[in-house]
Amino acid sequence: MTRAPIALTIIGLALAACSQDASQEPARPTRPALTAEQKTALLATLPAPYNAADLANGQRVFARCRSCHTITEGGPNMTGPNLYGVFGRAAGAAEGYNYSTAVKQAGFVWDADHLNNWLENPRTFLKGTKMSFAGIPDATDRRDVIAFLKVETGFAPAPTSATAPTPPEPATRP
Ligand code: HEC
Repeated sequence: MTRAPIALTIIGLALAACSQDASQEPARPTRPALTAEQKTALLATLPAPYNAADLANGQRVFARCRSCHTITEGGPNMTGPNLYGVFGRAAGAAEGYNYSTAVKQAGFVWDADHLNNWLENPRTFLKGTKMSFAGIPDATDRRDVIAFLKVETGFAPAPTSATAPTPPEPATRP
């Protein structure tokens, strides 16, 4: 605890030095970002068809969501809620976001299937949502953006035999 004043002074100096923009609190420790190899390995653990997704296309498709959603851990809610950790989380549960009654009372946990249906047509999937988004008619684009979100929002596959999605050792060649 004796370190705290020093740390605060350093933070203070850093804030003063760069004047602002570092206004984000040093919140909970964040997970290190996945490397490209770890993303590929995680992708491979997803059930079909998501394991065949094109992450680069998913990122492009996500451009349609970015004006309303952040996906980084601890990222702010904007017009829509922050989506970090959305898979496995109850609908309407992002901290500090004011959802419509429709989403608050949806009563399901987000998984790929629910997101696929939501993104195909947000309005008909949940009547009364305030997500004013036309939807993504193309199934491949939906597959890719869902896989992209899984890889980018801290999704971890249920532990089976192995605990972490560590990349497999390169096969030894004959
Ligand atoms: C015009 C702004 C806007 C765009 C674009 C948009 N969203 Fe949303 N999104 C919202 C709003 C607003 C909500 C909250 C809906 C409610 O409470 O009814 C929401 C809710 C959600 C939720 C539910 C989150 C939760 O915690 O239950 C998901 C998942 C989601 N959006 C995914 C997406 C994805 C993926 C895209 C891009 C393909 C996208 N959204 C595009 C505004 C937007």
